[in-house]
Amino acid sequence: MPAKPKCYLTTPIYYTNGLPHIGHTYSTIVCDTIRRYKRMRGYDVVMTTGTDEHGVNVERAAKKAGVPESEFVAKMAAEWKALWDELGIPSDEFIRTTDLKHAHTVQWLFKLCRENGFVYPGHYTGQYCIYDNAYVDVKPGENCPDCGRPTETVTEANYFFKLSAFQKPLLNWYAKHPEFIQPESRRNEILSFVEGGLRDLSITRTSVRWGIPVPGEEPHVFYVWFDALTAYLSAVGGPNYEKQGYWPADVHIVGKDIIRFHTVYWPAFLMAAGLPIPKQVWAHGWFLMDAAKMSKSKGNVVTPRPIVGVLGMDALRYYLLRETVFGQDGNFSYDALVTRYNSDLANGLGNLASRTAAMIEKNSSGKIPKPAALQPQDNALAGQVQAAIGEVLEMYDNLSFSRALEEIWSLIAATDKYLTAEHPWSLGESEADQQRRSTILWVTAEVLRVVTALAHPILPDSTAKVWSLLGQGGQAASVALDGLRWGQLAPGTPLGKSQALFPRIEKAEAIERMESMENEPQKQPSPATPAAHASTPTAGGAAAAAAPAANEKIGIEDFAKVEMRVGQIKTAERIVGADKLLKLTVDIGTEIRQICAGIAQYYEPEKLIGRKVAVVVNLAPRKLRGVESNGMIVAASVGPEGRPVLAGFPDEDVEIGARLK
Ligand code: MSP
Repeated sequence: MPAKPKCYLTTPIYYTNGLPHIGHTYSTIVCDTIRRYKRMRGYDVVMTTGTDEHGVNVERAAKKAGVPESEFVAKMAAEWKALWDELGIPSDEFIRTTDLKHAHTVQWLFKLCRENGFVYPGHYTGQYCIYDNAYVDVKPGENCPDCGRPTETVTEANYFFKLSAFQKPLLNWYAKHPEFIQPESRRNEILSFVEGGLRDLSITRTSVRWGIPVPGEEPHVFYVWFDALTAYLSAVGGPNYEKQGYWPADVHIVGKDIIRFHTVYWPAFLMAAGLPIPKQVWAHGWFLMDAAKMSKSKGNVVTPRPIVGVLGMDALRYYLLRETVFGQDGNFSYDALVTRYNSDLANGLGNLASRTAAMIEKNSSGKIPKPAALQPQDNALAGQVQAAIGEVLEMYDNLSFSRALEEIWSLIAATDKYLTAEHPWSLGESEADQQRRSTILWVTAEVLRVVTALAHPILPDSTAKVWSLLGQGGQAASVALDGLRWGQLAPGTPLGKSQALFPRIEKAEAIERMESMENEPQKQPSPATPAAHASTPTAGGAAAAAAPAANEKIGIEDFAKVEMRVGQIKTAERIVGADKLLKLTVDIGTEIRQICAGIAQYYEPEKLIGRKVAVVVNLAPRKLRGVESNGMIVAASVGPEGRPVLAGFPDEDVEIGARLK
């Protein structure tokens, strides 16, 4: 058998100063989808993800946590890796920038660039954004133009990379490889950036300690982007990349925020070293919350576990890839997520699969029926399916995931319509009627088989279930898409076991469950165990930190971080569609705050007005059911059901704003 063609895909390697949210999950899901698709097209695929563990941010975060950097990043990297495993999207190679093999690759790349005359020593003074790990073009005192946060003036001795020497070679490369930067809009953006001229780039630091040392040049360590980008190469052999045969990468999947690093710096470093350039960089848009990029400081982060716990991983995959055109920004909304789940997954694919199986069970003793001669209406559907196969494969090739899903779902809609028109359930028991019914059921099952194979890269779990329901041997994943044709469904095949696909769910309840899990990280279920219960939001609905282990003590300084004050409830009302939450306004002495509290089932809103309560006032704001909550009301959690009882001050009429210590 000829060797399979190789294909190498990468996600960005993620910073370890935070944990994964939906935005990161999106990049990894996209990459995983391409991996599954390419495997079904006969490729030998390697997908890399990993963690970007060096830099000032990590130094600071580790210091704050009171642990050495190496310990801090090891714990974070393990959490990232564990999450990808849990979500069923593990990489084939997980690269950490603290891996020894990576350090060797970075040092080797630097040596090649230097030997070829593209590195020189110098000094640099500039405004540095520690959040983006980049010098930025602003005056001292001005904020970062990308993230809006304060910049710092940094002067240091460092090595420079002659990026300016690569303006022409890069422009030539873009011209010869128009597919290199995708989508088109990003390509234009990069072209005009490079045409505007390139400044040399400082690629080492003496102001940072936590990095890969530049051999013989200590205290120089590598600049994070020189370090991070090289991870793509370290993951597939580093200096010995030729032996493994995966380099250059077929596609680097990145967010639009880091396109410049990948399409300007990275190919320039590789050109300087005389190494092959990746074939493509594909920049997707952002998932926004209320039109802003998700970030912890804004309190608008959505993480994958609650969604997966309530709706399943396939629902998240479907929503992210269906809702926005790949390359454009999308707005994340729980409402739209559950709507898609119910309409497209439960009523669409799930319903077609279960009704098809039920009809075959009833009319054909659980075996795929034998069709008689196809009628024009059968052939029309068959033709639509056959045509869709080629179109969907092309859409996958172009990473047009939302269009591919639209096309696949149009087959489901056409089949529902076909069934309504042909109504096999009303046919009788005559020979002719039986034959007609068998034909209709075979046609329906055949569409379902093709739909299942086509949707598999995006919906791996549920399509695997439909595949075995249809009694198809092997795994859905092992279907060769190149050989997928209309008409391959063998009559007489016994159906497999029916498994729950997408049980319908009441929207308000699903949203409430996801939101309350989002706010109680310690209660987030593992995706392997679908959550059967809704967890009760904390009284304030704001994030409840994981409690320390039973025997662990905290210092007074830890307690002092929690700022609790006496507040007075000014207004209280129910929130439509959220039966556990009350929206309160609370006077905390210095201001009136809006706070959501999960006490609606136990307290009448009218009776709360004027009541004095204990409020945690320094929690990051959060949104609950779309309503901002800026603080937390303290309550005892009583009994097995955790009934909230508000903390109060019965001894005296305490002053509003007084601090609890
Ligand atoms: N460590 C660098 C990348 C180095 S690659 C050699 C980095 N890390 S990151 O943790 O900030 O992750 C950035 C990537 O996460 C983005 O490029 C994008 O792929 C993804 N996303 C982060 N937030 C996102 C959204 N809100 N929406 C979609 N994707 C986003 O940058």
